[in-house]
Amino acid sequence: MQTEIGHDIHKAIEFLKAGDVVAIPTETVYGLAGNALNEEAIVRIFEAKQRPRFNPLIVHVASFDQVINFVQDIPVDCTKLAEKFSPGPISFLLNKKDIIPDLVTAGSPKVAIRIPSHPVTLEILKHTGFPLAAPSANPFGYVSPVSAEHVFAGLHDVIPYILDGGPCQVGLESTIVGFEEENITVYRLGGVTTEEIQQVTGKQVNLQLNHEQPDTPGQLKSHYAPNLPLWVGDVDSLMQVHTGKRIAVIAFKKKYVYPEPAFQFTLSPEGDLQEAARNLFRVLREADALDADIILAERFPESGLGRAINDRLTRASFIDR
Ligand code: TXA
Ligand code: MG
Repeated sequence: MQTEIGHDIHKAIEFLKAGDVVAIPTETVYGLAGNALNEEAIVRIFEAKQRPRFNPLIVHVASFDQVINFVQDIPVDCTKLAEKFSPGPISFLLNKKDIIPDLVTAGSPKVAIRIPSHPVTLEILKHTGFPLAAPSANPFGYVSPVSAEHVFAGLHDVIPYILDGGPCQVGLESTIVGFEEENITVYRLGGVTTEEIQQVTGKQVNLQLNHEQPDTPGQLKSHYAPNLPLWVGDVDSLMQVHTGKRIAVIAFKKKYVYPEPAFQFTLSPEGDLQEAARNLFRVLREADALDADIILAERFPESGLGRAINDRLTRASFIDR
């Protein structure tokens, strides 16, 4: 199959209406979208990504008003968060209605649902009239795509169309939030920080990120892995340990001069975590394509987006994939 990259929203809509899959831009990462109410389209998503069927998909809708068409009830804390952060990089885990196929949620009674903020994708959602299931548009286990070219690199010849909406502005996937009784749990760190969630709800947030249980949805430890081995930590000490190797360093704001690594990337010279997040996946891909032996990444400050960046780097560093 020939894969086309273009800017034609109506072409994308035609494919989606026909039950096909299309890569779409979102503010977080590119998604591999299909009609969330059409089981054939859902199967195509899993197949294109080579993703195990037990790993559920996020459902995207045009506005928060539409969420109630697909879920049983909306907790007050969810409404508060949506008022503040939707459209935007946050997904809500809610009890699904029957209209959402079990295939989408991998048999779970809960569906993850979000309103993306990218104008192109919002327009598609308004036109199609059906919600879009969309995982990140990368082959299962590799770094998420933050440009149309990244999608092409992983999925060309597998999908018919990639809708180019420019580089992703957030660059990290959505934060996944669930509500149990009066509690709020974050299952995946992402573009909305736990501090922001605490501020808006006035509640302490539980974290359930379990890297140790690969069978827990959303928690597969092989996620986000580049091909080169990657180590996260104190880069000066790591460089000592790996003397003699061709090293690519990923730093937050610093430049390494002595010893000078073969390659280095600075994610945000001004120390802006949003900029660092936006650059992270592109830089991981660029580093992975170098003639290097190993990637060494700094650990980020454990606050705000730094926590989500550390989470992605840590997952990228798991070697048993
Ligand atoms: O920002 C994002 O969320 C991007 C864009 C495209 O919207 N999507 C994304 O999808 O990151 P994906 O499939 O790569 O990651 C979604 C994660 C998965 O790890 C999945 O296990 C978890 O969300 N998830 C989805 N539905 C779930 C459910 N019903 N229960 C628990 N976890 C769920
Ligand atoms: Mg993904």
